[in-house]
Amino acid sequence: MRVFVAGASGAIGSRLVPQLVEQGHEVIGTFRSPRHADRVRTLGAEAIALDLLDARAVRNAVMETRPEAIVHQATALADVRFSRNLDRSFAPTNRLRTEGTDALLAAAREAGVSRFVAQSFAPFRYAREGGPVKTEDDPLDPDPVATARETNAAMRYLDQAVTDAGGIALRYGGFYGAANDGLLEPVRKRQFPIVGNGGGVSSFIHFDDAARATVLALDHDGPGIYNIVDDEPAPVRDWLPVLAEVLGAKPPRHVPRWLARLIAGEGAVMMGTESRGASNAKAKRELGWSLRYPSWRQGFMAAYGSSVPTERTPSTSDR
Ligand SMILES: NC(=O)c1ccc[n+]([C@@H]2O[C@H](COP(=O)([O-])OP(=O)(O)OC[C@H]3O[C@@H](n4cnc5c(N)ncnc54)[C@H](OP(=O)(O)O)[C@@H]3O)[C@@H](O)[C@H]2O)c1
Repeated sequence: MRVFVAGASGAIGSRLVPQLVEQGHEVIGTFRSPRHADRVRTLGAEAIALDLLDARAVRNAVMETRPEAIVHQATALADVRFSRNLDRSFAPTNRLRTEGTDALLAAAREAGVSRFVAQSFAPFRYAREGGPVKTEDDPLDPDPVATARETNAAMRYLDQAVTDAGGIALRYGGFYGAANDGLLEPVRKRQFPIVGNGGGVSSFIHFDDAARATVLALDHDGPGIYNIVDDEPAPVRDWLPVLAEVLGAKPPRHVPRWLARLIAGEGAVMMGTESRGASNAKAKRELGWSLRYPSWRQGFMAAYGSSVPTERTPSTSDR
């Protein structure tokens, strides 16, 4: 199949392209920063510079390359400093998830591309009530924290637009598996605390397993939404000390909710104390997906542990 990967030079795209090539697909990979052309070529794809916010350019790129499938993995989170206002940090990504998705879907329609898979996100989105682990059928948070409303709305928009068009939205877990993962520095510096009772549940996914699920989704008929997360959704109080230990850092600090609210904002309190995890049962059942790292316990060790060489993707400073 000819597969058009928007965001081929990114953290997930650069894991996905080699897997697609290995499966015998022909890949057209887009990048945004001019210095990333060589990287995309080295991954085995035909490299195309593309700004997803330029709808005319998107149309032309898709019409000229005539793919049979499109994968949307473009986000703008590299080098972002996550502030207490998540909507500010995510603003460029939110545009890629709304306007960028629209541009790609319009181009897909015009070019007759029937297969469409896009990056969505599972953590911190499900309603903060009931059990700790949610399926794709469970309701999303009807009242996200004020500083993350636009970000939640952009993800809802993407899920809806993609599935309305017959495509597949993959709600990935929190990505990990690269030496420059955003979590690492704060955990090493003890700047990532356990808030309150640390009961907020996180769902993770290693980049390699995320890429494998994406390859499988391309062979699956839509529409559909899938949680692409590992087998062990876990409260922060469980996974954070393990990550600190793997990194050789001191154990995380504990801070009360009021102090976390003051320092890091309501979003951090929600993630640390109330968020729900996600179930991967549907993706395993319907996509036939299995995981190389079924739990972050093995995955953190494989990615960051000193006993196993770090699986390194180029850091942004290498680019
Ligand atoms: N995905 C999430 O929801 C999420 C959430 C929290 C944290 N993170 C973390 O953030 C880190 C990297 O984030 P990332 O995946 O956004 O960055 P990334 O790895 O740099 O990948 C984003 C991809 O989108 C492309 N892109 C950016 N702006 C574009 C535009 N206007 N038009 C077309 N393509 C565009 C990039 O191209 P160029 O590279 O050529 O610029 C790149 O190929 C990872 O460590 C990840 O774990 C991700």
